[in-house]
Amino acid sequence: MSGEGIIPLARPDLGPREEELVLEALRSGRLSLGPMLERFERDFAAWIGTDDAVAISSGTTALHLGVRALGWGPGDEVVTSPFSFVSSANCLLYEDAVPVFCDIDPVTLNMDPSAAAAAVTERTSGLLPVHIFGCAAAMPELERLAANRGLGVLEDAAEATGAVDAEGIKVGTRGNIAIFGFYPNKQLVTGEGGMAIPSDRDVAALMRSERNQGRAEMGWLAHERLGFNYRITDLQAALGIAQVERADALIAERTRVAQLYAQALEPLGAAPAGQGDPEGLILLSADQGLARRSWFVYVVQLPAGADRDGVIAALAERGIDSKTYLPSIHLMPHFRERFGFREGQLPIAEAVSNRSLALPFFTAMGETEVERVAAALAEALGRP
Ligand SMILES: Cc1ncc(COP(=O)(O)O)c(C=O)c1O
Repeated sequence: MSGEGIIPLARPDLGPREEELVLEALRSGRLSLGPMLERFERDFAAWIGTDDAVAISSGTTALHLGVRALGWGPGDEVVTSPFSFVSSANCLLYEDAVPVFCDIDPVTLNMDPSAAAAAVTERTSGLLPVHIFGCAAAMPELERLAANRGLGVLEDAAEATGAVDAEGIKVGTRGNIAIFGFYPNKQLVTGEGGMAIPSDRDVAALMRSERNQGRAEMGWLAHERLGFNYRITDLQAALGIAQVERADALIAERTRVAQLYAQALEPLGAAPAGQGDPEGLILLSADQGLARRSWFVYVVQLPAGADRDGVIAALAERGIDSKTYLPSIHLMPHFRERFGFREGQLPIAEAVSNRSLALPFFTAMGETEVERVAAALAEALGRP
């Protein structure tokens, strides 16, 4: 990439193997429910380390099927994170379940387990932890809470393909229903696409039926339950197979770019969350113990009081894309209107939302691009 070109926020890593397999799918004439679908599911399950995996049209539709598989419905409260992409809460609204947001840990940016415990009532049916920005949520604590209170668990790992948790266990393999997402900015991409890890064979069969119009295993017009068209095409599955083959390398490349950023931003006083000046430039947290972040985005929290819109405009002037990331879900209009949420209710999530900025992040970035972003950020913050 030329030093002067625009640096986008994200860019998928696609190569000859992706082209080869997509062409193979195209030439086979089997564009849906074909052999690529089964192969993608098998390969992903083998790579992640589960018995099964169910490929679905997106992370959002996978979440919806997860909510249905857990039987969460009208009036059921589900404790979840306000600091997430909107679909981890929208999926509850699809079934008239009630999201109950608890505040986040300021270091990991994931649901704080003690806040989650405090949010559980006799109306609570489940927990929906999100592994935000590729950092594993506090699953041991949350699973203990779920076991003590008889709650179901749905893990949103859309941003955490390949992440490892504090007990050294790969995210999505703990036996809960978990979902992954393959939108083009993700670690692995299929264009649109998602994967659900079922908790057992019955859930797997239910998900396969519901994604395919509620069909029975045998019989094209045998619809034995309410279903949806949440199928992924074989073209997307072919792309996914190639990405799974390269998964470890793709994730390692993202870690490399994150390390380049940490070095380039150090002169600005940047430090990982919990390790530096809480009013300064804050990076995503460092790995603790056995945990390993699977780098998804490069989000920083700008110094307290910085003019974030001004920084975005200054970066754009220098050809660098950036984005506020993420807004707190409870303050979005449809959540405010439905549940009466207002500012100040979840102060940690709101403060992080107000300071966060996503910088360009993709595998093809080298030192030149990272340093260009860091220099532009320094200038925008008035610290050239
Ligand atoms: C945390 C989280 N959950 C769910 C999703 C939804 O995935 P998709 O865009 O594939 O529907 C995303 C995608 O960006 C996400 O980041």
